[in-house]
Amino acid sequence: MARKPAIKPASVSSRVASHPPLEFTEPFEQALKLMEETSRHVFVTGRAGTGKSTLLNHFKETTAKRVAVLAPTGVAALNVGGQTIHSFFRFKPDVTPETAKKKLRGEDAGIYKKLDAIVIDEVSMARADLMDCVDAFLRANGPEKDAPFGGLQMIFIGDLYQLPPVVGSAEKMLFKTLYPSPYFFSARVFQGLEMEFVELEKIYRQRDDRFIDVLNAIRNRTVSEEDLALLNTRVDPGFEPPADEYYIHLTSTNDLADRYNEEQLKKLKGRTWTSTGLVEGEFGKEYLPTAPDLKLKKGAQVMLLNNDTWGRWVNGTIGKITGFVKDPEAGALVRVRLNDGGTVEVAPFTWEIFRFSLKDGGLESQAVGKFTQFPLRLAFAVTIHKSQGKTFERAIIDVGRGTFAPGQMYVALSRCTRLEGIVLRKPLRKQNILLDWAVVRYLTRSQYDQAAKTLSLEEKLRVLEDAIRHKRPLEMVYLKGTDVKSRRTIKPLRLGEMEYAGRPFLGLEAWCLKRRDRRVFNVEKILSLQPADAGNPGTGEKQK
Ligand SMILES: Nc1ncnc2c1ncn2[C@@H]1O[C@H](COP(=O)(O)OP(=O)(O)O)[C@@H](O)[C@H]1O
Ligand SMILES: [Mg+2]
Repeated sequence: MARKPAIKPASVSSRVASHPPLEFTEPFEQALKLMEETSRHVFVTGRAGTGKSTLLNHFKETTAKRVAVLAPTGVAALNVGGQTIHSFFRFKPDVTPETAKKKLRGEDAGIYKKLDAIVIDEVSMARADLMDCVDAFLRANGPEKDAPFGGLQMIFIGDLYQLPPVVGSAEKMLFKTLYPSPYFFSARVFQGLEMEFVELEKIYRQRDDRFIDVLNAIRNRTVSEEDLALLNTRVDPGFEPPADEYYIHLTSTNDLADRYNEEQLKKLKGRTWTSTGLVEGEFGKEYLPTAPDLKLKKGAQVMLLNNDTWGRWVNGTIGKITGFVKDPEAGALVRVRLNDGGTVEVAPFTWEIFRFSLKDGGLESQAVGKFTQFPLRLAFAVTIHKSQGKTFERAIIDVGRGTFAPGQMYVALSRCTRLEGIVLRKPLRKQNILLDWAVVRYLTRSQYDQAAKTLSLEEKLRVLEDAIRHKRPLEMVYLKGTDVKSRRTIKPLRLGEMEYAGRPFLGLEAWCLKRRDRRVFNVEKILSLQPADAGNPGTGEKQK
């Protein structure tokens, strides 16, 4: 029976040991329900550390659907035990919607008809034209001819405020003329296509509320002088980490990361220890989690790249090599002192790439390639791009000559669990925070549309008029056009046509109980309204 998630990483069974119990928040449940019980397209989003990948793993392990899990890059795909979009659809690097719509022949052509859903993680890095290729391919090869995405349910997961798709200089023109933005949502297939929108809101990676607020402000580019001042208390250009504390450098460019790693490795005394990895079958370069010929030294700082069977480390844990040992049974092992103090012996690990095939009319996932190597890479430094999705306790952020991609600064800062774990090489200025307005526009529009499904304009007006008449307070969730959400307790006073910058809009004048002032709101931008408990001024102005 092919009822299991069809693509499974080799390590899936060894994953669970250290997992803390999952919290099922309301949006988490809602997302799962849409994914499991409906065939509607869904976009699940949420800030860094809100559990998007955790939700995906949970879904993969429990779903009764036949699901393919994909991601735009090899690293992201390996992280969730999936395949790249290109390899799953057998796309060449130069694929276009024109070439993608060919009908596939041969043994595996029937695979795509047997699927129920496709999940794409880290979708912020998936390009619009690639989405149109997926659509064109599935219209030809999916279960329903000529239906959008071949009639399959599409589940998109990611945070559009993190790193965007890569657009090479050769393709820049194409994007100027053919697509309004490089992001996945600008694909033609989405025009007029209904999609549910769910946002996971609770952050698990960080705990400190003030730090969380500042991260939010970086994400939306609404940072105040105080926010910047707080972050800049962490500036220390000449910082040298103490020997017993493991800091990773997060850099803007590959060059900078390579340079740090080489320099630091050279500084260490002792012999270089080399391990030659083993590639079997099809294991494309883009999936390689670490070097096939791995060069390490005693004292080198490393990142562990798998989840330990016994839960002693996870993918992303940092440690330092304390020695190389030979075990009569297990063979060569690398001894690593982890950043929490424990010392472990690390054995080689095998990563597998799975692919669908048909067997007796059913779907089967088959390992097509393997890579065996120590699950370690040098980690004096790593690029911000490669750090997306990971968690660190201490990091030195070095953006060299500056950030160059939207979301880059947000990804760097949000990797860290605590503000005190961050060291900035240079003061952070507002111009280091880049934001793409196409993202802001798309997300606010999506949220207004989603809210209108549960609270229509008529219903909104009825609730507001009722509250005005009976002088009753309401709890309101309000979303500004800058995609900044706030919860307020208001006493509605007056409804009517109002004007802002020469533009008329349907306005609400209300008294804000917490801020103690009279304000005007755009009725269109109200996401939800609830009766407020009498005598409870609510959570006031707190941002989401
Ligand atoms: N529902 C949840 N309950 C408890 N812990 C969670 C939950 N979701 C995520 N976490 C924890 O929060 C951290 C970040 O989760 P992750 O799924 O990587 O976030 P994202 O993919 O949104 O950046 C992980 O350490 C994870 O164990
Ligand atoms: Mg993630």
